[in-house]
Amino acid sequence: MTDAKKTPFLSRPLVRMGLIAGVAAVATILVMALYASVSSKKAEARQTALKLVDLDEKTADPAQWGKNFPRQYESYLLTNERYATKFGGAGSESMPESKLKEDPRLVTIFDGYPFSIDYNRRRGHAYMLEDQRTTKRVTERKQTGACMHCHASNAVAYREAGLKGGAPGTLDEAFTSDNAQAQLMAGFETVGKMPFGEATQLVKHPVACIDCHDPKNMALRVTKPGFIRGIVALANSSEPVPHLPSIEKWRKGDRAKPYNANRDASRQEMRSMVCGQCHVEYYCGPKTTLFFPWNKGLKVEQIEATYDEYKFPDGHRFFDWQHAKTGAEVLKAQHPEFEMWSQGIHARSGVSCADCHMPYMREGAIKISSHQVRSPLLDITRSCQTCHRFPEEELKARVETIQARTHAMMNRAEDAVVALIQDLEAAKKAGVDEAKLKPILEFQRKAQWRVDFINAENSMGFHAPQEATRILGEAIDYARQGQIALKGLK
Ligand code: HEC
Ligand code: HEC
Ligand code: HEC
Ligand code: HEC
Ligand code: HEC
Repeated sequence: MTDAKKTPFLSRPLVRMGLIAGVAAVATILVMALYASVSSKKAEARQTALKLVDLDEKTADPAQWGKNFPRQYESYLLTNERYATKFGGAGSESMPESKLKEDPRLVTIFDGYPFSIDYNRRRGHAYMLEDQRTTKRVTERKQTGACMHCHASNAVAYREAGLKGGAPGTLDEAFTSDNAQAQLMAGFETVGKMPFGEATQLVKHPVACIDCHDPKNMALRVTKPGFIRGIVALANSSEPVPHLPSIEKWRKGDRAKPYNANRDASRQEMRSMVCGQCHVEYYCGPKTTLFFPWNKGLKVEQIEATYDEYKFPDGHRFFDWQHAKTGAEVLKAQHPEFEMWSQGIHARSGVSCADCHMPYMREGAIKISSHQVRSPLLDITRSCQTCHRFPEEELKARVETIQARTHAMMNRAEDAVVALIQDLEAAKKAGVDEAKLKPILEFQRKAQWRVDFINAENSMGFHAPQEATRILGEAIDYARQGQIALKGLK
């Protein structure tokens, strides 16, 4: 007892042992807690590639892919959310906002073409199949199966149609194999020629995982025949494409094999090319197979030159429709996002569509790409502030300044085109010689094509602000030149 009294409390053997045990226990708990957290994070990370379903080249249904990749699938489903920004989205009503009601000048500009009867603002990917099936451009006018190219998951449907038509091999072959490519292209040709109503029955889903990803390893890929051919045409041209370095590199090689995005493009390029499968100018009609007019480059006048030189099988020069009031053979531009992005500083700096429209999101330990493809202005923090250290409001103001300037210029350009159309109509009524009017109809074609290129492009100038202004300036000039030439005739 006296001994015990003499020994300081903390040095007593029993107390000491207890203390050591206690510290050890706490340490163990801490280590275990840390371990538990790490291993659950590891498990979470593993879950990004949790293999519950064997995906292959026949799995068109995105819900099946969703079992292996639930986070990407959940965000993909959110493309059914409706929204409006100052210039983006289609509004929050059940039907998308009408572009024709918003801007009645378009009815005059598109007179004689289905776009003058129904033309709405775009909305999320979830709606692409439904909006195409219900537009009056389809229900009240004849369209072909080629329309389906960009409004459905059709990688499997095309290959099946190709096989049915006698293409070699089976659906099990890798997408990049020669047989699979032959099936795809053959199917694309036959489905494209079907009446729309028949073709659209071959597909069930809007753009889906299999259209952008290899089912074996989830690598990005392009599957749309129009793009696969269009990018080859661009590679074969001599137009510099510094924003697509793999094409520049291919051009310097022996060119023994055609450029192939799925083999040659970098991951960063693919992050834009997957979108370029659909967000592009194209020809889609009964006269010939759908194509992207990129033989001379991606700029507005290069595409125009490609069309001007292009002859339909009947020998006639390319045009989309004949204007009902003036008789001009005119061109309709469609959503040239990939082309306009290509002219901007972001593309030139290596910034991809996905960088802004599919930003990374963190969920626990996992970083995933948002598959809720939408306006970046709804998530400036993730879409822009990763590169630009300015407050959200400031970045939004910069975008809206560009858009408001483009919009003001576009209004003037549309007024000019409408004025030319009205003058041409009056001249026709006054009995001016048709042969003399012919060169003036060319001014209408040029002016209309340019103003429409910017109107149909969905960023209201943001993707390439200076290029948009240049094009609109030319539109105004051509329209006014046409009016001046008409005055000379009277
Ligand atoms: C630097 C960022 C950035 C890049 C890169 C970019 N965009 Fe955009 N995009 C925007 C912004 C900002 C808008 C305007 C959104 C708005 O008005 O709400 C926009 C608008 C759009 C719209 C219309 C969106 C809507 O809400 O109506 C589409 C479609 C689009 N971009 C497609 C593309 C495609 C395809 C590419 C690549 C070829 C691309 N974008 C590259 C920033 C970007
Ligand atoms: C298979 C063709 C296809 C592909 C591939 C595709 N899109 Fe789209 N996209 C569409 C169609 C069609 C619509 C319009 C749907 C509608 O209005 O019903 C659309 C709409 C959009 C919108 C408007 C969304 C909204 O809610 O208003 C944006 C933004 C967009 N796409 C960006 C992209 C980006 C970025 C990529 C690449 C990651 C991409 N798209 C890939 C066909 C495609
Ligand atoms: C090369 C790809 C491509 C082809 C081919 C294509 N579309 Fe689209 N379509 C798109 C994209 C991208 C959008 C979304 C951007 C926009 O609305 O400008 C869209 C939007 C639409 C919309 C919703 C907005 C609107 O214009 O009212 C309808 C309807 C539509 N397309 C119908 C058709 C029809 C009909 C055809 C065949 C004549 C067709 N599409 C062929 C890519 C395509
Ligand atoms: C329009 C093209 C497109 C479609 C459709 C698409 N993705 Fe993606 N996906 C992308 C892009 C772009 C990335 C970014 C890839 C990169 O940076 O390497 C991506 C990345 C991924 C990744 C890698 C991890 C990540 O989040 O970055 C997974 C997994 C994935 N997607 C799953 C899916 C699933 C599941 C579906 C269908 C529900 C789907 N994707 C549909 C374009 C698409
Ligand atoms: C991956 C990086 C990156 C992302 C993401 C990005 N930017 Fe940029 N942005 C750049 C680069 C690089 C430039 C070129 C100027 C420079 O070098 O600083 C630029 C230039 C700009 C300019 C000047 C444009 C012009 O044509 O002169 C604006 C405005 C802009 N960005 C806005 C945005 C907005 C808004 C977003 C989101 C929707 C965004 N950026 C997303 C990298 C990025």
